[in-house]
Amino acid sequence: MITVTRPFMPPLDEYVEYLTGIWSRNWITNNGPLVNDLELQLKEKLHLDHLIFVANGTIALQIAIKALGLAGEIITTPYSYVATTSSIVWEGCRPVMADICQRSWNIDPTSIASRITPQTTAILATHVYGNPCDIPALEQIARDHGLKLIFDGAHCFGTRYRGKSLMSYGDISTMSFHATKLFSTGEGGAVVCNSPELLRRAALMRNFGHTAPTEFDGVGINGKNSELHAALGLCNLKYIDRILQDRKNIFENYRKLLRHPDIKYPEIADDTLYNHSYYPVLFKSHRTMQLVERELLKNQVSTRRYFYPSLSSLDYVPGRFATPIADDIASRVLCLPMYYGLSFAEQRMITRLVFRVLNNG
Ligand SMILES: Cc1ncc(COP(=O)(O)O)c(C=O)c1O
Repeated sequence: MITVTRPFMPPLDEYVEYLTGIWSRNWITNNGPLVNDLELQLKEKLHLDHLIFVANGTIALQIAIKALGLAGEIITTPYSYVATTSSIVWEGCRPVMADICQRSWNIDPTSIASRITPQTTAILATHVYGNPCDIPALEQIARDHGLKLIFDGAHCFGTRYRGKSLMSYGDISTMSFHATKLFSTGEGGAVVCNSPELLRRAALMRNFGHTAPTEFDGVGINGKNSELHAALGLCNLKYIDRILQDRKNIFENYRKLLRHPDIKYPEIADDTLYNHSYYPVLFKSHRTMQLVERELLKNQVSTRRYFYPSLSSLDYVPGRFATPIADDIASRVLCLPMYYGLSFAEQRMITRLVFRVLNNG
């Protein structure tokens, strides 16, 4: 079976070496030395000033919303993973859906204006597939209306925009290091920001609000991650340049193979060093997408409908605004296998199967 994604596994002996250290220290969680080391190495690798390692990308979003003290309405994108919306609701805020751009599939800044009310406190935008949103336009809207700006950067490890890490934009950015992501700690994530005070608050929240063993500063949660996860991250980080290069080759090979008038792709933002984290394909109809999905599965190739359903359809999202572009794209898109080690022969086989459907329909 060719899976849609496959976690990069570092050499086992390198992980075992870290485990030996953990065993000898008898220190498994609560801000251990490997967690600190991973945070330092991530900041160095991504050229970031402030970052904390947390349990996953969902808790990173929840801490971001809480640390910024948000309430009321948050304008967000319907074209993302469910965690982007559910975090808003979980934190007691109301998600308000803006539509997405036809070209980038990221939130459309021109659709945001009509959604702003006196209750709006923030914009939560996803850089879908690691492709930067229209950051200058979103920053301008946030400035003009006094809104906070959060970027869900779950897919963005390694992407650079205008010469800086994509994670360095907005008030807070969040990351996911889930096993499906190109850089993985098994489960994991990060909160990134430019303000040391904001990071201090996020770090407090990550650890129940503890300032001392018997003292607390505000409400917190358990957002910590463990030495075991940090160790996997430290192993994987050594291979990240190789992983990024391999994905670039695979992405470019797909682009060469999969040229067809009925296939469309999201446009990558200008001035971007892209991380090639996914390979989404937009088919001309829902029916064609389904036929391709079935044909591939019949031949032992799994795909995923990232991102279906459009989050506007969630029953806990007030349906105040239509998002026709997101709903349409979500119904026609399929992500093809994309992971370190996918061979060119496998890509040729996948391409043949896709063309078998397109050329018959
Ligand atoms: C856009 C987006 N946001 C948030 C998340 C949640 O991250 P995690 O699975 O690490 O909680 C994901 C996960 O896949 C995601 O794709």
